[in-house]
Amino acid sequence: MEVKHLNPVPTGHRRLLKWVEYWAGLCEPVGVYWCDGSSSEYDGLMKGMIESGLAVELSREKHSDCVLFRSDPSDVARVENRTFIASRDKDGAGPTNNWIDPDELKETMRGLYAGCMKGRVMYVIPFSMGPVGSHISKIGVEITDSAYVVVNMHIMTRVGGAVLDTLGENGEFIPCMHSVGKPLADGESDGGKWPCAPLEDKYISHFPETRQIWSYGSGYGGNALLGKKCLALRIASAQARDEGWLAEHMLILKITNPEGESRYMTGAFPSACGKTNLAMLIPTIPGWKVETIGDDIAWMKIGDDGRLYAINPEAGFFGVAPGTSECSNPNAMRTIDSETIFTNVALTGDRDVWWENIGYPPPGGLTDWTGAPWKEGAERPAAHPNARFTARARNCPSIAPEWEDPAGVPVSAIIVGGRRPSTVPLVQEAFDWNHGVFLGSILGSEVTAAALDIKAGTVRRDPFAMLPFCGYNMGDYFRHWIDLGAAPSATALPKIFSVNWFRRDRDGKWLWPGYGENSRVLRWIFERCEGTGAAVRTPIGYMPAPGAIDRTGLEGVTDADMEELLSFDADEWRAEAESIREHFARFGDRLPAELRSELDALESYLDSEQDGSRRR
Ligand code: GTP
Ligand code: SPV
Ligand code: MN
Repeated sequence: MEVKHLNPVPTGHRRLLKWVEYWAGLCEPVGVYWCDGSSSEYDGLMKGMIESGLAVELSREKHSDCVLFRSDPSDVARVENRTFIASRDKDGAGPTNNWIDPDELKETMRGLYAGCMKGRVMYVIPFSMGPVGSHISKIGVEITDSAYVVVNMHIMTRVGGAVLDTLGENGEFIPCMHSVGKPLADGESDGGKWPCAPLEDKYISHFPETRQIWSYGSGYGGNALLGKKCLALRIASAQARDEGWLAEHMLILKITNPEGESRYMTGAFPSACGKTNLAMLIPTIPGWKVETIGDDIAWMKIGDDGRLYAINPEAGFFGVAPGTSECSNPNAMRTIDSETIFTNVALTGDRDVWWENIGYPPPGGLTDWTGAPWKEGAERPAAHPNARFTARARNCPSIAPEWEDPAGVPVSAIIVGGRRPSTVPLVQEAFDWNHGVFLGSILGSEVTAAALDIKAGTVRRDPFAMLPFCGYNMGDYFRHWIDLGAAPSATALPKIFSVNWFRRDRDGKWLWPGYGENSRVLRWIFERCEGTGAAVRTPIGYMPAPGAIDRTGLEGVTDADMEELLSFDADEWRAEAESIREHFARFGDRLPAELRSELDALESYLDSEQDGSRRR
């Protein structure tokens, strides 16, 4: 069948053309449109979606160039149970990933893709993850039948002609196939309704050996914006393992002390556990400054000087809206003043947005994320808990001038942290690299609303915040981290820290105020990197010595609170060690011996403590 191109084909790349033609033949769209990433393209697509009722234009007085989308209630977050790592053999995916044989999966999905774009345009989006042309960057091409995906990709990645120029006639690209899985009959239209397929037909599939992504049935976030979790984490992590670098679910920040000295830190926190907030933090301690490099993903490579260099592969933020306020994150509030796509937040009578904990009460005449009228006191929230904003990094007041430096920034500290109501202290520093990898490997967190099918509220292990994003066997991933630390070229690796902003007291209240006050902890980390910063050795790491966390001007945190925040409770850690042992057992003989000996050391300390002979 002849493929109909709706605009001139902008590339002579034969493999790319053949790939596009193959999918056009199978999916049967009305035509193929090649995206150029221009603002006229963005405006045109957006205009069409507003006219069709899929999007609502917000009041230009409050938000210039901003729109609201409401998704289908079945399509509001990543679907971890429908996400697959289809490696050749099952062990390649490991015990934490869903696996289907790649041939079988492709056959099933080809069946779903057949005719799936009837009545729709097939968009081809050439994009770069990372600054175009950086040696750390990667090029992807996404095929999609969703204009919503195209406009989001415009913000989240670098789209367009420069990417095709870099690709030339034979360059490497990662093929990313996407369809919402909702063909239209003759004359049918979406009628302003978000198109997607039922849950059991959704597949977010990765073929790590052949570096392919096939996504079907969802139009939301990481399921559909394939540059993000699918490419920059799942596929890139497999590439990073093969090539000796790291692709991580981490923010990147720059912190500057009153003397004007700067350091860079990365931080792994599970979904909806505070990366965006930490990356945009405004310090409460005088003279200190934090700037943003990235809020979700870090690609890190060892440089010629033996240090680890990080780039942010993204160009925008896909941030959690609820909880974002002038008080918690003013930098995010300024970032979303313009050129922002809101999804599943509430709409006010005068076409402004509202969500829970935005910092002021809901105005009357609110429409909730499902499109229904909403009144204060209603049982359901007005904004979906995983409602998001898609906003440009360049609009963020705290963005660091070097955020697009193709060489990346040298990392001094790697932070890992989750939501732990007890046990894990406010901050601790690992004894050394392997102990730091141990702290990352045991990261646990109360589950949030960022994934559809996991019960919120329970604690689950989420190593390095990569549980849903590691494209290969997590045991091998631990091995890769250990090996990187031992690489002869890695002569000046970052220190590793664990933090926990989420400890609660007996009444369930936060013990630590969090947000801007986290700068007090970052300061201690900064000082530890400088070789100052007083610490005491505990069985689980170095912790701040009494008084080493600056509490000047900090209200509401008593000495007793501080003691609890920085305590080591042997009984709690006995239970923790048992749960770590169960967690490690999942990886069988793929668990690095180095991590087992870290656990052994902790357990033998706890045993000796019990019989009165302290060791560690
Ligand atoms: P993803 O985009 O899903 O990867 O999330 P993220 O890690 O970027 O999380 P984000 O910064 O969006 O924060 C998620 C939620 O945690 C929001 O509701 C925040 O208000 C809340 N949060 C962030 N930082 C803190 C903190 O220091 N303390 C407390 N108590 N809550 C926080
Ligand atoms: C996350 O869930 O970690 C996110 C949002 O950053 S999504 O892109 O949907 O994965
Ligand atoms: Mn994330």
